[in-house]
Amino acid sequence: MKLLVCGGAGFIGSTFVRQRVEAGDEVVVLDKLTYAGRRENLQDVEHVFVHGAIEDPEAVAGAMAGVGAVVNFAAETHVDRSIAEPDAFVRTHAVGTFVLLEAARERGLRYLQVSTDEVYGSIEEGSFTEESPLRPSSPYSATKTGADLLVQSYAHTYDMPAVICRGSNNYGPRQYPEKLIPLIVLNAIHGDPLPVYGDGMQVRNWIHARDFSSAIAHVLQHGVPGEVYNAGGPDECPNIDVVRRVIELTGRDESLIEYVTDRPGHDRRYSLSSDKVRALGWEPQVRFDEGLAETVDWFRDNAWWWEPIRSGAYREYYARQYGRELSA
Ligand SMILES: NC(=O)c1ccc[n+]([C@@H]2O[C@H](COP(=O)([O-])OP(=O)(O)OC[C@H]3O[C@@H](n4cnc5c(N)ncnc54)[C@H](O)[C@@H]3O)[C@@H](O)[C@H]2O)c1
Repeated sequence: MKLLVCGGAGFIGSTFVRQRVEAGDEVVVLDKLTYAGRRENLQDVEHVFVHGAIEDPEAVAGAMAGVGAVVNFAAETHVDRSIAEPDAFVRTHAVGTFVLLEAARERGLRYLQVSTDEVYGSIEEGSFTEESPLRPSSPYSATKTGADLLVQSYAHTYDMPAVICRGSNNYGPRQYPEKLIPLIVLNAIHGDPLPVYGDGMQVRNWIHARDFSSAIAHVLQHGVPGEVYNAGGPDECPNIDVVRRVIELTGRDESLIEYVTDRPGHDRRYSLSSDKVRALGWEPQVRFDEGLAETVDWFRDNAWWWEPIRSGAYREYYARQYGRELSA
């Protein structure tokens, strides 16, 4: 099958492209190459690359020629940035998803929208199912929710073969270091302070990006048009425990932990029930302990990947966000 993967130069998109190419699919990647999108993420993977935005109908038409299905990862993905500058979130998630849906509908293509557990908001106990109410709480999750609703409306109104796959918090190689795990791993490797929001008791349901990618491929192949499928990881862990495990894996000590003012409106706990996608035959393979150790090793062994980030615009972002400079 020939696939169009939008946002394929990002963290999870590139993991998915790598898996699909290994499985024998042909892949065209359409990516705007924002700060989070990098050609390096796919340098060892055979693919056709189109540099363009999903909100640009001409770029989309060119990239879609001859493909059999579309998978849309393209997004602005950092909640903190959505609080400071929501504009790009609205453009990419609302307008971009609309342009992709129109183009896919015109060509009768199967379409998969990659989405997030954050559309459900926070949950104290138990887990969200696909029937749970949508209660997004940040501009990031609100615009992702809007995109999901548009996808569902296309499936319903135009009978379009569109499905949605919602993942829990991903981690793994090539994740941009503004996100908790790579941020903590790189700071620990450098002996920099480890910033922890609030009391650090925010609980996340961690899924390895390889597992989320395999769930997406599974839903693309077996999902019922118009349906939503949650894909959660096998383990939950409070942020402070994630930080302590990274400290252990990098041989540092807890004196590096620095509690910082919590993010406004920070959700306390996310948890997804994956029963529906498991009933289709998918299962996560990577337990958090094992995946985290592998991720720490990857960052330790791949300085070529993060050195240009840590010495570039990321430094300014970090100083603005945490009120201190990173070490060199
Ligand atoms: N990271 C997570 O924990 C997580 C969890 C669940 C779902 N998701 C979803 O998975 C998808 C991928 O997330 P990620 O963590 O890999 O993100 P990422 O920020 O690493 O990558 C996003 C990619 O999209 C590209 N992009 C952004 N705007 C674009 C546009 N307008 N047109 C074309 N390309 C554009 C970027 O250049 C980048 O390559 C997103 O839809 C996100 O909402 C992420």
